[in-house]
Amino acid sequence: MNALRVGFAIHEQEHVFDHWAELGEPERSVLLRQARRIGASLDEFVDAHRRALAELEAGLEPASIQPPETVCLPEHGGDTQRLESARERGLELLTAGRVAALVVAGGQGTRLGYPGPKGAFPVGPVSDRSLFRLQAQKIRGLARRTSRSIPWYVMTSPATDAATRALFEAEDNFGLAAEDVRIFSQGMLPAWDFEGRLILEAPGRIAESPNGHGGSLTALAEAGILEDMRKRGIDRLFYYQVDNPLVRMADPVFLGLHEAAEAEMSCKVVRKQDPMEKVGVVAEIAGEPAVIEYTELSEELRYAQDARGQLLYWAGNIAIHIFNLDFLHRIAEESTTLLPVHASAKRIESVNSAAEGRASRDPNGYKLERFVFDALPQAARTCVMEVRASEEFSPIKNAEGKESPDSSRAALIACYRNWLRGVQIPTSGEAPFIEIDHSIIDSEEEAISTGITGLADAGKAILVSTGISP
Ligand code: UD1
Repeated sequence: MNALRVGFAIHEQEHVFDHWAELGEPERSVLLRQARRIGASLDEFVDAHRRALAELEAGLEPASIQPPETVCLPEHGGDTQRLESARERGLELLTAGRVAALVVAGGQGTRLGYPGPKGAFPVGPVSDRSLFRLQAQKIRGLARRTSRSIPWYVMTSPATDAATRALFEAEDNFGLAAEDVRIFSQGMLPAWDFEGRLILEAPGRIAESPNGHGGSLTALAEAGILEDMRKRGIDRLFYYQVDNPLVRMADPVFLGLHEAAEAEMSCKVVRKQDPMEKVGVVAEIAGEPAVIEYTELSEELRYAQDARGQLLYWAGNIAIHIFNLDFLHRIAEESTTLLPVHASAKRIESVNSAAEGRASRDPNGYKLERFVFDALPQAARTCVMEVRASEEFSPIKNAEGKESPDSSRAALIACYRNWLRGVQIPTSGEAPFIEIDHSIIDSEEEAISTGITGLADAGKAILVSTGISP
């Protein structure tokens, strides 16, 4: 205990034991365990905090920024033939069994206000199927089409881990083979008040929060996932966020473009419509591709226009990437020094809340995070691909309004309607809800080729049947 106190005192953090005398035995042992764990890396955390504040202060130098080189959509001058050849190449990778999928699902979903893990959120327009189930259907469909299993790595955090594991168990891994699903947890970083002191969220507990999805890069190595990939002969990792039901799972075109560019890391973007959209912006900073997070984007850059009056920094990051295994190894080894730490001012539960006025929602400290996209400038080569938001990006972030469950379900239905229009099935009436099992149909082409045998109009919902069992 004394050694522990000294360790904290060296960094002027001994106040974490201020309430020791008033704690009962169980609380003491919780604090002791936590303090030992944090204490073992306190030097690193103090350094992360110092670097985060320095980053915050430095800001960005606009003169060194320009829009990224991008593989554009055909309607923006892209070459259709190039995309077609990329699809072929991507399918080759998939059929060779060289691809796995990683979903990051460690966030606390504070804005959505949903108590469980976000992946459990019901998003199916008809069946209330969860985000995880929908994504598992996509993976199963892909595996069926390519006759290769696609391992699904699910990153949680201590905040979401137990509930996520329980859900996967109760749902029998959503129909995927147990050996193809690996759940692992990212780490945490302590929170700091504005005076540079660790925050006590309770008399016997130091405030911590998930270390950002950049934490996936070390967690993948520590949890043995990189080793699992190597053993299976997988060298490409398709990365996406749990909150986007429109994700085109392990998109062959994206994989093919990544290969053609001999990229180490790639990134999908959508064209921003509004300067205030809450998406990071992909740009070239000092000649290197990078993402500037929307919270860190200056007013000047947000509104900057090109000669045609269009947004100059239009490339919105939809957090879909491909990583090469070698690159992941390299970054994992050095991520604490290679990746910057970002501090965001937040309201953090604190024992001092009473003194500060419990009702106040004003930020009282910083949460620290590393962002996965900060690995982009470390890649020798990258590929940035433009996609349509209507087809691939409709995340659930807020309880209502923009980027909410309602807007996301509407986007899904619009997508299904498009696919069905392709097969020219007379949809009876104006049924507002449609749901398609992604393990059977996951694109317009597939809706055409699968041969739909029935279309049941159940009043408010249209259920598509194909005669194929999922
Ligand atoms: C994120 C991106 C933003 C992008 C947008 C697209 C960041 C910092 N920014 O913004 O550039 O344009 O998505 O939707 O991510 N997560 C973890 N562990 C964590 C933190 C987050 O797994 O420690 C996961 C969440 O579960 C979620 C995703 O990362 O799936 C995004 O987190 P969120 O906080 O919602 O980021 P956004 O602000 O939406």
